[in-house]
Amino acid sequence: MAVADIVVRQAEFFRTEQQGHRHGAELGVTKPTKPDDKVLRFLQYRSWPGNVRELKNVVHKALVLAHGYPLDLAVIQGAVEQASLPQPEIKPTLYGYVSDLLETADRESGTNVEASVTEWFERELYGQAIRLAEAIVDAIPCAEQVRFTSSGTEATFFALRVARAFRGRDKILKFEGAFHGSHDYAMMSTEGQQPSELPRAVRGSAGIPQSLENEVLIAPFNDLDQTTAIIERYHQDLGAVIVEPFQRMLSPVPGFLQGLREVTAHYGIPLIFDEVVTSFRFAYGGAQEYYGVIPDLAAIGKIVGGGYPLAAVVGKAAMMSAFVQPNEDGVAIGQVGTLNGNPIAAAAGLATLTVLRQPGTYQRLHELGQQLRAILQATLREHHVAGQVLGDGPLYHVVFTPQPIHTYRDTLTGDTQKQRIFHREILNHGVLKPTSKGYISLVHSDADVAETAKAFDAAMAQVAHS
Ligand SMILES: Cc1ncc(COP(=O)(O)O)c(C=O)c1O
Repeated sequence: MAVADIVVRQAEFFRTEQQGHRHGAELGVTKPTKPDDKVLRFLQYRSWPGNVRELKNVVHKALVLAHGYPLDLAVIQGAVEQASLPQPEIKPTLYGYVSDLLETADRESGTNVEASVTEWFERELYGQAIRLAEAIVDAIPCAEQVRFTSSGTEATFFALRVARAFRGRDKILKFEGAFHGSHDYAMMSTEGQQPSELPRAVRGSAGIPQSLENEVLIAPFNDLDQTTAIIERYHQDLGAVIVEPFQRMLSPVPGFLQGLREVTAHYGIPLIFDEVVTSFRFAYGGAQEYYGVIPDLAAIGKIVGGGYPLAAVVGKAAMMSAFVQPNEDGVAIGQVGTLNGNPIAAAAGLATLTVLRQPGTYQRLHELGQQLRAILQATLREHHVAGQVLGDGPLYHVVFTPQPIHTYRDTLTGDTQKQRIFHREILNHGVLKPTSKGYISLVHSDADVAETAKAFDAAMAQVAHS
């Protein structure tokens, strides 16, 4: 069977699958169990920077964009326009199925269909993802290689998996109150959970197997002594330590991240920074650049996809290689995802990074954050309300307690009634802030800051009287 036939038949199969197999029998299409050898040959694995793609996804993902219905296509088309993807060049993926592409390639290059298709895959479909991977490697200190996922949840999940595969141990250590997404490991001892006797983990969602409590250890963020003691006791079982370098609303106390880096390096335990929030936000190189501590692996998300579903695991090549090299039992890591490295999201991410590289971006974000935190502090003082202003970079928050806040348990001393009133009242004055931390962005103007200051003042008056 010719290469073109295989690709077209696969396109037809997936189209049929989407229709619920209604026409499968008529077409006589059967699900290809594996791409044919010839397909594999023309889509030879290329050592793209950061192992952006694995070969086996290439055929399948081409077809995800290839088999569309008019409504889907219109939506995708709109997104493509917004993402400034080159229209004429993306059209084959949207309109023509792969068969059109092959016909064009046939016409233009005579017998060299295979080379044309390979080049097309790289240029049109994965070019965006490859360029984004290169930009990430340039930006983030620990990023020697990149694996794309569609969400931050997947990024922390796979960062933990690759760390465990590299280290060959099962347990992980996370911090009390930290949030790493909604997978089973991430939802142990999260914010809102009753504290346990450390390092015992508490399941933070229904449906998490009880047995996972034995695989997750919990340490107190910002308490280096206690954290070090737990790591020293369990180091032989630990496959990874994962930390939000800026945990929810808690800045790291001086020396905490450095100490964590030292003790994990000492025992050879992979250190993962969850930078889903902080990457490209605290600095272009994320919290690791901002705080000057370089982890082995990091999960990045949110900004890197420019508002589209894209996230990534990044890290040192020595560890990331566990994604592609089977372990000593001959078992490799499974990390496939239909939409990984999605070209539309990658284009949106690339466009976003271009904006963020403009001179003055981070200075502006930090200045605005600093201004809002100072205003909030002054408002507390003026209204004689006991509270702690938290935050860093463009993030801010307030907890109504007289007690200084460094750890997750400190945050539990906050007056939740006052917090509810504050957030309700600023909303009544036109300022929407999540009840967790507030995020400032580049579109916020000085006028917005002035408006927010007024809302803080009015809301604090209500808090003072509560
Ligand atoms: C620190 C952190 N890690 C992971 C996640 C999960 O990311 P996503 O919502 O993209 O799955 C979030 C989401 O807010 C987050 O704040």
